[in-house]
Amino acid sequence: MNKPRFLVTGCAGFIGGHMLEKLLAEGYETVGVDNFSTGKPENLARAGGGFKFIEGDLCDPAVSEAAVAGVSHIIHLASVPSVPRSIANPGESMRSSVLSTVTLFAAAAKAGVRRVVQAASSAAYGDGEKLPKTEDMPPAPLSPYAASKLAQEYYGMAFSASLGLDCVSLRYFNVFGPRQDPGSEYSAVIPKFITLMLEGRRPTIFGDGSQSRDFIYVGDVAAGNLAAALHPEALRGQVLNLARGERIDLNQLVEKINAALKTGLSPVHAPPRTGDILHSVADISRIGRVIGFVPAVSFDEGLSLTIDHYRKARSVRTGEKGTNPC
Ligand code: UD1
Repeated sequence: MNKPRFLVTGCAGFIGGHMLEKLLAEGYETVGVDNFSTGKPENLARAGGGFKFIEGDLCDPAVSEAAVAGVSHIIHLASVPSVPRSIANPGESMRSSVLSTVTLFAAAAKAGVRRVVQAASSAAYGDGEKLPKTEDMPPAPLSPYAASKLAQEYYGMAFSASLGLDCVSLRYFNVFGPRQDPGSEYSAVIPKFITLMLEGRRPTIFGDGSQSRDFIYVGDVAAGNLAAALHPEALRGQVLNLARGERIDLNQLVEKINAALKTGLSPVHAPPRTGDILHSVADISRIGRVIGFVPAVSFDEGLSLTIDHYRKARSVRTGEKGTNPC
C-alpha cells in the first residue's frame, strides 16, 4: 500500500498547526486547507514550506474537491471552536462545522479517501452528573457548538455506513499547549490565564472555580489523531474520547500557574458563563482498546511547556516594543 498522503483541514489553527508539524516531521506528504476564519498565517509559517496550502472555505464544493484530490487520509479539524461564540452566532457554528463537514465528506467519498479522523467534542456530553464520561452515554448538547459537533459525529457514522468513507470521531476534551490564541474574548482558559498572570494581572474565573476540565496537551492530540488515521482496521464511524482521564478544577489551575510563575495572584470571580458545563472528565479506556492510544504528557509537564512558550513570546515582545505579550 502506498504511503498515506494527508489532508489537514483547519491547518492554520492551533491544533492544525501542531498536526501539520507532526506530519511533516514524520515525512508524510501533506496538504492543508484553511479559510483563516480563526486560523493564523503564523501557524503555517512555523510548519515551513514543505506542504501544499489551499486557502478556501470547505463549504464551497470546489474547495473541498481540490483539497481531497490525491489524498488518502484526512484529519478534519476545521471549525469555529468556542461555546460562547456559538451562542452569539449559532448559524456560523452550524456552517463552520456541519455544512463544511458534509461538503468535505461528499468530496472525500467520491475521491476514494481511505480514512477520516475528525475533531468531535466532549461538549456533546452536556452537564450530566455521571462521571467519568463514557462514549455510550446519551448525548446532551447544551450549546449550538455542541449540537454542531454532535451532528458531525452522526455524519461520520452515516458516511461510514452508506458512502464507503471510513470515519472516526475523536471527542477532544480541553486541549491546551503552546500557540493557542490567548487574545480573544473567546479564548480558552489556559492561554488566557497564563498571559494575564505573566503580566501580573489577576485572572477572572466565571463561577466559584470548582468547575473542572480534563485538559489534554496538544502534542498528545496530534499523536492520537495520527494513531487513529493509521489504524489498520475499519473504524466505521466510531466515537472515541481523546483526553487524559484526569480532572483539574479552575482554582487548582490558578494555583499551579502561580506556583510556576512564583506569583500569588488571587482570581477575580464573575458570574458563571451561560452554557458552561460544570465538570468534565473522560473514561479513556475505549480509545486505548480500539486504537491502542494512551496520552504521554502529564498535565504538569504540558503546563510547564505551555508557560515556557508564553514566557518566551512575552520576552520577545517586550524586548521589541515593551508592550503586551502574545
Ligand atoms: C473547550 C473548548 C471547546 C471544546 C470543549 C471540550 C476552547 C475555547 N473551547 O470549551 O472547543 O469542545 O472545551 O470540552 O478551547 N473560564 C473562566 N475564565 C476565563 C475563560 C474560561 O473561568 O477567562 C472557564 C469557563 O467558564 C469554563 C472553563 O474555564 O468553565 C473552560 O472554559 P474554556 O477554556 O472556554 O473551554 P470550554 O468551554 O470547556
